Amino acid sequence: MTWERPTSVPYPNVWWTFEAPDPDRDDGGLATYRVEDLTEDRFEDAIKLYTENFLDDEPLCQYGKIRHNPVAYEEIVGFWNYCLNERITIVCYKEGSKELVGANLLSVKQVNNKVDFSKYIRSEGMQKLVAVNEYMTDTVNLFERYGVDKYLTAYGLSVNSRYRGRGIATEILKARVPICKAFGLRLTSTNFTAIGSQVPAAKVGFKTDLEIRYDEFVKVDPSYTFDGIKGTSIKLMSLVIE
Ligand SMILES: CC(C)(COP(=O)(O)OP(=O)(O)OC[C@H]1O[C@@H](n2cnc3c(N)ncnc32)[C@H](O)[C@@H]1OP(=O)(O)O)[C@@H](O)C(=O)NCCC(=O)NCCS
Repeated sequence: MTWERPTSVPYPNVWWTFEAPDPDRDDGGLATYRVEDLTEDRFEDAIKLYTENFLDDEPLCQYGKIRHNPVAYEEIVGFWNYCLNERITIVCYKEGSKELVGANLLSVKQVNNKVDFSKYIRSEGMQKLVAVNEYMTDTVNLFERYGVDKYLTAYGLSVNSRYRGRGIATEILKARVPICKAFGLRLTSTNFTAIGSQVPAAKVGFKTDLEIRYDEFVKVDPSYTFDGIKGTSIKLMSLVIE
């Protein structure tokens, strides 16, 4: 069975608030931000955030030229919409503004309920992206390692480029703790594909289960080449929720 958000947890819910520098203030002053559930009326805007602030920056999407291949583009947008319908994706707003500051595409993975995304994918760029992600999670059996039957995972952390470098990604990751507690999840794990998300994850307390350098994937499969990718490694990182 696929995971369903329990009706006992309020929706939409504000999970986390914090202060960080406001890009619209010249004096370096702070603004209050909140991290909350994405609601359906903003699904399209969330997709726009990802097409404009993720596709050309995230190492695997950039390398795979996902934006420039119509089939791959349609596949990734389809996948994002599939994730949004799980109604556990979170977004960040600056107080008093409707602009999407950032988002994290979240999902709950359950033991014995593996969704084989590869069968929905035709483009080479997306096939490689899915394959290396799957390789990471298949190599470490998180269910066994942590003794859990489900965990919170994620398929994309994006911060609007004009808000970057202010600790916003770090704060969005902190929201995973109250979210896991509300849904009774004892673990959150993610394949972090960029240094800009690996550093925040480590700050929040995520520990590395497995790190594979992009230039080492050819040893796994000769077709997994990433020559010139703008990144060093993928890290599968986990945070145990006490
Ligand atoms: C990655 C991303 C989410 C980071 O958002 P952000 O709000 O700027 O992140 P934060 O400010 O919380 O933290 C980023 C940290 O990474 C560090 N960092 C970024 N690039 C780095 C680099 N090349 N080398 C070393 N550290 C780096 C920053 O210095 C910062 O740490 P600091 O606060 O100690 O200086 C954002 O850049 C983004 O949306 N990128 C495009 C999509 C993407 O790659 N997502 C991650 C895929 S899992």
